[in-house]
Amino acid sequence: MARASGKPGSKKYLVLGLCIGLLAVAFIADFLWASSSSSSSMYITSNWSVDKPIDRIVPKIEKKLEATKDHKAPNTDGVNATFADLPAPQLQWEEMAEAPVPRLDGAAIQIKNLLYVFAGYGTIDYVHSHVDIYNFTDNTWGGRFDMPKEMAHSHLGMATDGRYIYVVTGQYGPQCRGPTARNFVLDTETKQWRDLPPLPVPRYAPATQLWRGRLHVMGGSKEDRHEPALEHWSLAVKNGNALEKEWRPEIPIPRGGPHRACVVVNDRLLAIGGQEGDFMAKPGSPIFKCARRSEVVYSDVYMLDDEMKWKQLPPMPKPDSHIEFAWVIVNNSLIIAGGTTEKHPVTKKMVLVGELLQFHLDTLEWSVLGKMPFRIKTTLVGFWNGWLYFTSGQRDRGPNDPSPKKVIGSTWRTKLSL
Ligand SMILES: *[C@@H]1O[C@H](CO)[C@@H](O)[C@H](O)[C@H]1NC(C)=O
Ligand SMILES: *[C@@H]1O[C@H](CO)[C@@H](O)[C@H](O)[C@H]1NC(C)=O
Ligand SMILES: *[C@@H]1O[C@H](CO)[C@@H](O)[C@H](O)[C@H]1NC(C)=O
Ligand SMILES: *[C@@H]1O[C@H](CO)[C@@H](O)[C@H](O)[C@H]1NC(C)=O
Repeated sequence: MARASGKPGSKKYLVLGLCIGLLAVAFIADFLWASSSSSSSMYITSNWSVDKPIDRIVPKIEKKLEATKDHKAPNTDGVNATFADLPAPQLQWEEMAEAPVPRLDGAAIQIKNLLYVFAGYGTIDYVHSHVDIYNFTDNTWGGRFDMPKEMAHSHLGMATDGRYIYVVTGQYGPQCRGPTARNFVLDTETKQWRDLPPLPVPRYAPATQLWRGRLHVMGGSKEDRHEPALEHWSLAVKNGNALEKEWRPEIPIPRGGPHRACVVVNDRLLAIGGQEGDFMAKPGSPIFKCARRSEVVYSDVYMLDDEMKWKQLPPMPKPDSHIEFAWVIVNNSLIIAGGTTEKHPVTKKMVLVGELLQFHLDTLEWSVLGKMPFRIKTTLVGFWNGWLYFTSGQRDRGPNDPSPKKVIGSTWRTKLSL
């Protein structure tokens, strides 16, 4: 998979060096939210320093052409390829039925005992345009049905109210093709699809969630697939219908970019991890061939509450991206499975994450819950009857090589005990 294994030094590519200047403008926000929040607040017991100013990151992107013909194999002496792994307890994993197709950058939503799995790349040159369903009750796959032809195939935003699944924007087609602004709703009871008003402009992998009757869409990458977007919109929705004709602008997110987890819990909206920058189509390529660009993966956690101002919560134990459908909430903890972290400092290869991370929503502390059977990104996660499940994604090359290789459809579960 070119997209994943894109070696920075490969002579096949004219590597475009790219420099992201991050202009960090600190601003002091009104951060007395803990003291002013209601007594039912989930954060009230926390001592986390809430008057810490957050940095407003204004990405400034400057592109430089830089031929790297004479690139030499990097000297990897001294930096262990597995340096980014965190110490983690072993967990017992059980392999379950394999998904009908392998998927990278797919999407998933759990409704009761069913995990609806959408779209994704099968290979870098082939994308899926259907839904598969995993039944947690009898641990089988089935129920395949088509997506609308106009719906994006990867980098989707998705949220549910427990019956309707709202699907926004994303990349249309394989490789590094352009995005669509089209949005859809699936009624999971009738399997009928409906249209929603399109986004003002399309995005790649924006943070998406339903909150207080509105579908919120923020961040993601802009139309070039690389430049981080800060815009945030919302749309009033009910029972699968848009109650408004147009998306409403909302407070921009302090840091943009795709592939973060976006969660609503205890009436707060959280955006977790993610990255700035992503692969882009090679200029002039008729197949929109993916070419690697610089990426910055981050560990930031942002939150919106009643005040509708972004507040920063304690960061993840390490930078983590490609986690938009890799999380569940269990017993007031958010569990995140796998992802990608910062690239290897010497080889510049992408480094995958192989831990389950836990964010305790009462104390706002992060911990490492355990090891996964391998490192994996864009995995799709569900929780049923005490078991945490993950399926699909792109896994590592082996225990000693955390760079991405095979796109898989395998399904695994472990008994959680929090
Ligand atoms: C908050 O701080 C108080 C006093 O320092 C301490 O007793 C308490 O355990 C802390 N609570 C948390 C959740 O850290
Ligand atoms: C890298 O570190 C891990 C964990 O400490 C160790 O198991 C592994 O053998 C090391 N690999 C190399 C190549 O040194
Ligand atoms: C899931 O599996 C259970 C047990 O076999 C079955 O009763 C149920 O109908 C299945 N659900 C769907 C939607 O297939
Ligand atoms: C969640 O909490 C309930 C009630 O305390 C407990 O029975 C259950 O085992 C917990 N679940 C996990 C996954 O730890």
